[in-house]
Amino acid sequence: MSGEDRYVILESAGASLILDCAVGERARILYWGARLSRPDPKQIETMLTRQHAPGGPDVEIASSLLNETGSAIAGMSGFSAHRNGQDWASRFRVTDLRRMDKQGIEIVCEDPNTKVRATHVIILDVAYDVMTCQTQIENFGDQPLAVDWCAAICLPLDPRATRLIGFTGRWADEFQLEEISPFTGSYVRENKSGRTSHESFPGLLAAADESHEQGGLCFGFHLGWSGNHRVRVDHLNDGRSFVQLGELFFPGEMMLAPGQIYQTPDLYAAISSSGFSALSRSFHSHLRQSLMADRIARKPRPIHYNTWEAVYFDHDPGALFELAEKAASVGAERFILDDGWFGSRRDDTAGLGDWWPSEQIYPDGLAPLIEHVTGLGMEFGLWFEPEMVNPDSDLYRQHPDWVLHAPGVDPVPFRSQLVLDLTREEVCDYLFERMDKLLSAHEISYIKWDMNRDVHHPGSGGRPAGHAQTRALYGLIDRLRAAHPDLEIESCSSGGGRADYGILQRTDRIWTSDSNDALDRQKIQRGASHFFPLAVMGAHVGPARCHITGRRLSMRLRVATALFGHMGMELDLLKESEKDLATLKAGIALHKKYRPLIHDGDFHRVETPAHVNAVGVVAKDLSEALFSWCNLTGHRGTLPGRFFVPGLDPDRAYRTKIIWPDPALSVSRPSVLEALELSGEGAVLQGETLMTVGLQVPLLHPESCLIYRFEAA
Ligand code: DGJ
Repeated sequence: MSGEDRYVILESAGASLILDCAVGERARILYWGARLSRPDPKQIETMLTRQHAPGGPDVEIASSLLNETGSAIAGMSGFSAHRNGQDWASRFRVTDLRRMDKQGIEIVCEDPNTKVRATHVIILDVAYDVMTCQTQIENFGDQPLAVDWCAAICLPLDPRATRLIGFTGRWADEFQLEEISPFTGSYVRENKSGRTSHESFPGLLAAADESHEQGGLCFGFHLGWSGNHRVRVDHLNDGRSFVQLGELFFPGEMMLAPGQIYQTPDLYAAISSSGFSALSRSFHSHLRQSLMADRIARKPRPIHYNTWEAVYFDHDPGALFELAEKAASVGAERFILDDGWFGSRRDDTAGLGDWWPSEQIYPDGLAPLIEHVTGLGMEFGLWFEPEMVNPDSDLYRQHPDWVLHAPGVDPVPFRSQLVLDLTREEVCDYLFERMDKLLSAHEISYIKWDMNRDVHHPGSGGRPAGHAQTRALYGLIDRLRAAHPDLEIESCSSGGGRADYGILQRTDRIWTSDSNDALDRQKIQRGASHFFPLAVMGAHVGPARCHITGRRLSMRLRVATALFGHMGMELDLLKESEKDLATLKAGIALHKKYRPLIHDGDFHRVETPAHVNAVGVVAKDLSEALFSWCNLTGHRGTLPGRFFVPGLDPDRAYRTKIIWPDPALSVSRPSVLEALELSGEGAVLQGETLMTVGLQVPLLHPESCLIYRFEAA
């Protein structure tokens, strides 16, 4: 390959990727950014030529797809490995290029010296600008190779993207954004929790100074992996910046025998020239079309009733029958029996691993309850936590050796449970057999797959096995799905601890957070929406007094918050007032009415003052839209500001109404609603005016939420 052949150009609707991949040389990315209408790699190469940096190497050190140790580029290498202290400085050179369909390229690089082959696969989603990058490392030497670190790829960052926005949080407060001021040096977030993590979601945004929800240059990165990871950005002093995301290993964990291959998780990277919301829409569309296609479009997402916050471990079939009836009467379409139905599980100290119905609570098994639920027209779902075992369980008493551990290290106490070693075939066989048996015997169409502790010492046979454990988990889910193709699965891990594109390739919904506090949920769901569409984000109406925060919130607010997600409820319906039940029922009916729009429309976050959260969806043909405007707290000003509605068609007029809650209940009078006629029939307002002049918002109490509907007139 020579001359022009050395350049590879991948193009999508809004992005271009230009690679320089001359055989025999270092492969590197010349450009990744907004689509270029006339890409000229040679010209770009010339434009990027830099002079000798005083005090630096005679020639600028070129980057590579991994900035591997032997490349000598400053900052953290994207690939670092050795053979017993030897062969530690790999320098990859291109040996082969293979064009794939779907705008993809496979670039094979080798270092004959250290005997390592790195094969990079890059695929650009032509419609949605999301690039999927993955690297495979092959040891073709005759001694084992210890891989300490391998990023999915090292991506150069546009120098204008000086703002870095990472994701932090904790249990019951996931997906919190944290912006970092410009710096030189490194930004690193590492997750060693053995799950995707509450604290360090494997995602990152980078943006130009002026970027906002509706405009400006921004980039997004997400690692589709449900185990340990590292997110890293290096701003080099020479002005270049690189982003790398990859799997984090324990010492000596990734040992490649001769001929063995390690494959990184996929990195999803996208660019938007139209702001953060457009970036999110690209991620949402890619996830829906490429990773979840057959499942997400299968049927409308049923309204859930989950038993957890209603009964916890206090299972009483009589009360559950009644709850099922109440749930069906307010509009539930799926009833999920949460933790506490099996073995000796009467609290969280015992029973995990014993996956058969408790004979004490369910003497006739689960059939009577399942039949009652399905008889009421609802689907039945069941909770499992397959990877875990309580020491106080029959399973552990029989197989104490089935747990992950590090020799000589005491397990960290964590919810009285230990982690099963899924890398052992017999463990997965046991779990498969137990679950398959129940799924085959009953009409169970849904599983809530939970995972409630960190995996501190994922050791198997004395060696670290975090990677193998995550792969084995994927294998077990895949096996179950193959046996039960219509089964739907929710990925839960103490709330949002296992939400990522790796798990979502084999599950259908994420439990976004254990907090059902509607105010907290406004922020959590907004944060999660950067990568996850509303259709997969579990959002439940919780009890009036939130069990986790102790805060009391109105049913109107709780409904409005859960409405923008995969809606459900999780409260003791037998204790709710008739008034609140009526409000809940009306809210569920509203969700069902607009469900296709909420789940299939284009998602927007609105730029608002800090005390407000506003988000919404616009139909793909711009014929209708639904937005929520939530006053999280009170505010300084005497009157509220205006709502600049994004995403509408400026040339169309929209009938504009406030449809939730009943305005008569919540808004002081004489009100702006009357002036604008937003109640009743609504007012017909021009799209352009709504977008650029903005709509005056009525006076609202703190902790209250309006839902606006816009319908093209
Ligand atoms: C944690 C989950 O997030 C909750 O919803 C519930 O299922 C409990 N586990 C049950 O133990």
